[in-house]
Amino acid sequence: MKKFYLTTAIDYANGHPHIGHAYEKILADVICRTKRLLGLDVHFLTGLDEHGQKVEQTAKERHITPQELCDSVAQEFIEMCALLQISYDDYVRTTQPRHKVVVREILQKLFDQGDIYRAEYTGFYSTRVERFLQDKDRVDGVWPESEFGAVTEITETNYFFKLNPHKQWLIDHISSHEDFIFPKFRAKQVLEFLKEDINDLCISRPKNRLSWGIELPFDPEYVTYVWFDALINYISVVGYGREQFSEFWPVDFHVIGKDILVPAHSIYWPIMLHALEIPMPKTLLVHGWWLCSGEKMSKSVGNVVDPLDYAKQFGADAFRYFVIREMNVGQDCDFSHERFLARYNDDLGNDLGNLLSRTVNMLQRYNGGIIPEIAELEKPEREIIDLWAQTQRKVLEAYERLQLHGALEDIFTFVRAINKFLEIRAPWKLAKSEDPKHRAHLHTSLAICSEAIRLTATILAPILPTASQKMLSIFQIDRIIWGKELEWNAHPLANQSLATDAMILFPRMA
Ligand code: ME8
Ligand code: MG
Repeated sequence: MKKFYLTTAIDYANGHPHIGHAYEKILADVICRTKRLLGLDVHFLTGLDEHGQKVEQTAKERHITPQELCDSVAQEFIEMCALLQISYDDYVRTTQPRHKVVVREILQKLFDQGDIYRAEYTGFYSTRVERFLQDKDRVDGVWPESEFGAVTEITETNYFFKLNPHKQWLIDHISSHEDFIFPKFRAKQVLEFLKEDINDLCISRPKNRLSWGIELPFDPEYVTYVWFDALINYISVVGYGREQFSEFWPVDFHVIGKDILVPAHSIYWPIMLHALEIPMPKTLLVHGWWLCSGEKMSKSVGNVVDPLDYAKQFGADAFRYFVIREMNVGQDCDFSHERFLARYNDDLGNDLGNLLSRTVNMLQRYNGGIIPEIAELEKPEREIIDLWAQTQRKVLEAYERLQLHGALEDIFTFVRAINKFLEIRAPWKLAKSEDPKHRAHLHTSLAICSEAIRLTATILAPILPTASQKMLSIFQIDRIIWGKELEWNAHPLANQSLATDAMILFPRMA
């Protein structure tokens, strides 16, 4: 059976993890968890991009070797993944032999095929972005210092990968495959870029300028350009060139941020694959950017959000909830601490956390910790059951269409409806009465809440893995799979005893 194969961008090893890195991994993780719950065999790949000039430079400034720098950065990124509960199946580092071997094989193949040639080139080079600049990079006649840093003219012999022969094919592919780029509006941007001639891609760097890279197999005086090396991670570690490759490829999603769509993932990568006669990825899933008060995050402005601080202080679930609830996949979004606190206290603490703690509490006080049977259904009960049927359908559809913020909106509408139901039924009043009709209502309302909580926990599992597990554990459910278990009363709880007598999921924070 073909696996559901998803990758994220591999993060640059020259910085620390920030909210952009964290968000991308969480987004990827939520998708992978939904697919696993639906019964698919998932392979989730993420990792670290370790070569290139910036890594070499940073290492030099810190008086350590590039490999030492990469090892320490890898530790930070892996720690971030652990803290955020990222359920990846493999972590690739581009300095690993298993990756480097394949990069060299591919370079040799393309060289032998005549797709890579040697030429002398004079041009304007930016160290900041590690490439030769083109006229179309100019703004008002100059290359903006803010984007490219210092630009110098150099003449150099290098190796080039032919792009133009594939241009028309790429235009046709993008135009005829609606799902190739999500969201759709980003495809226009790529087609726009393809209207002009594209320069062949310089895939080498002379060692006297940069030595931290993968040596070219056909010329030991050169190392491979970092992007050419990095993109290959998507195939190198899933068995490219071996039989098992077809279990993974074509990849279902390459999850990336909008800044690395053009040209890397929408021009270079498809053309590299095409030249190697490898089928195209199914979908490039392009997310937007996290901004801080409308501005790009940057170290110099000092507005970088440290995801590790948040995860440590509020828990992984709270951070995951916030970024998924706030960002409409594909759009940009603003991060603010006040908003984070409000979402945490209102949605997670009040709506969800209180529902659970008061239900557990009432079950203990009014029924000895045993979940009662549903005695009779009247309008308020039927409304909850009907609302669940709608919620379930809408949420599964939203997960499928990557409308993850919408999925959470619908789930929390349901959560608030249960809270309202409790206010209407007021079990605390019913409990004071000996009237059999009141007893029946009391029992029914507690049973309805228990079932609603079970379902909420089941459908929230991809986004709030820890809270979901804790919630299900009170009903002694330890493994879930979607499908029937999302149906009302699919998993009868009546007459079971609760496995706990108190549970606070999200303690109030100031
Ligand atoms: O680009 N908001 O690495 P990277 C959302 N190594 N996403 C953001 C972001 C922000 N503020 N800032 C960055 C690289 N990202 C390359 C990728 S893939 C073969 C090589 C996203 O560490 C960015 O868009 O600069 C990218 O998808 C990912 O974080 C890693 O960025
Ligand atoms: Mg970047």
